[in-house]
Amino acid sequence: MKRFPDGFLWGVATSAYQIEGAVDADGRGPSIWDSYSHTPGKIDNDDNGDVACDHYNRWREDVELIASLNVNAYRFSIAWPRIHPTGRGAVNQQGLDHYSRLIDALLEKGIEPVVTLYHWDLPQALEDDGGWRNRETVERFADFATTCYEAYGDRVNWWLTINEPWIIGLLGYLHGLHAPGYHDDVLGEVTVFHHLLLAHGRAVQEFRRSGHGGKIGFAPNLSPHYPASDDPADVDVTRASDGYVNRWFLDLVYNGSYPDDMRARYEELLGPLDFIRAGDLDTIHQPTDYLGINYYSFRMMQAVPGDKPWPWRVVVPDTVETTGGFTDGVPRTEAGTPIVPWAFTDLLVRVRDDYGAPPIMITENGAVFPEPLHDAARVQFIHDHVSALHDAIEQGVPVIGYCHWSLMDNFEWKLGYAQRFGLVHVDYDTLERTVKDSGRYYARIAAANALVDPTE
Ligand code: FCB
Repeated sequence: MKRFPDGFLWGVATSAYQIEGAVDADGRGPSIWDSYSHTPGKIDNDDNGDVACDHYNRWREDVELIASLNVNAYRFSIAWPRIHPTGRGAVNQQGLDHYSRLIDALLEKGIEPVVTLYHWDLPQALEDDGGWRNRETVERFADFATTCYEAYGDRVNWWLTINEPWIIGLLGYLHGLHAPGYHDDVLGEVTVFHHLLLAHGRAVQEFRRSGHGGKIGFAPNLSPHYPASDDPADVDVTRASDGYVNRWFLDLVYNGSYPDDMRARYEELLGPLDFIRAGDLDTIHQPTDYLGINYYSFRMMQAVPGDKPWPWRVVVPDTVETTGGFTDGVPRTEAGTPIVPWAFTDLLVRVRDDYGAPPIMITENGAVFPEPLHDAARVQFIHDHVSALHDAIEQGVPVIGYCHWSLMDNFEWKLGYAQRFGLVHVDYDTLERTVKDSGRYYARIAAANALVDPTE
């Protein structure tokens, strides 16, 4: 049996805007996601997070639900606009109290809160002043983080600064699919990457200054890269895209410098990167205690010479031959994402080798499947990814926890409510929660601290 180390954290993950609803309650200010989701045509079906899973009101019931899954960790995010409704200035005590009660209720159940400070809900008032393109936002984030450490630092052991900085830039600035909705703005994208990394560094500095004894890291989404063929052009863009998605963030946080090859590519497109100022790299290069990794899939790369801004595209081949062996056809989630558990092992081994073996917590891993309750595909997905995770641990990768995305079906950003990631089904008419087969299976894994056979 594949057993996990003692004390391994088995968790479920959510984020504030995706589940809370109650967007006007108790002094919360608007965020960029309120504005964006209320702009007609931006979100599939014109859905928005006004009600979502109504978790803000149903949190007690949800803590019971989380406990019923036998997990010992719960990753959630604090909505910045509930704490600082305009992103700066006075603290909103009602907002602070909400998360304080949630944290206490989790601890009473023996569940470790894993708190994300930024899961994309920037206060709209800060966006009005330039948002993450404006360097001042970094300091406002450091203030918000400090408020949270003061309020919860005595009880929270696990902190995450920024969730998925690459996705924020990619979808919010390059493709215009997420708030704040810019298109083809490469300068905006890379400026925002830099400011998000600076915000991470400043939040870590303030955490150390706060004197609290917990652990802090960030949660990038990482994708292992493979060339679509042996063609040197494909091999070359594979390395480049890895620089774009993975190394741009990890090299800075772990080594204190941007990767030269990727920096040269940006400079070729944009000229000098003036937003990088003296001292910034040191600010970002703070020692962290662990690395959160969101893993969903691999990227298989094909060269497209001359394409802008990047001369490549991501392809999904019919068959794959790599270290994982030959796969006859690549299975996919309902969202079309290829399901490649062995690439998960590859990724973890590679991060260990390249970045000094940081303790790793899987902060997200999950998939969209349509079945409401009897979700055999998700059961299989969990089995295969937990198994791949165990393979990495056997190869000496220091993995300390795994949080499945997601606790329950929720507002999946641009895709609205149509695509379901939950271990728990949510009926959006009644808001009733029902544990799916996958939730029951995951609960067995968490209880056993081992991979269990889904058919037993
Ligand atoms: C990640 C996000 C998370 C959720 C999952 C499916 O990119 O961090 O909020 O949307 O994807």
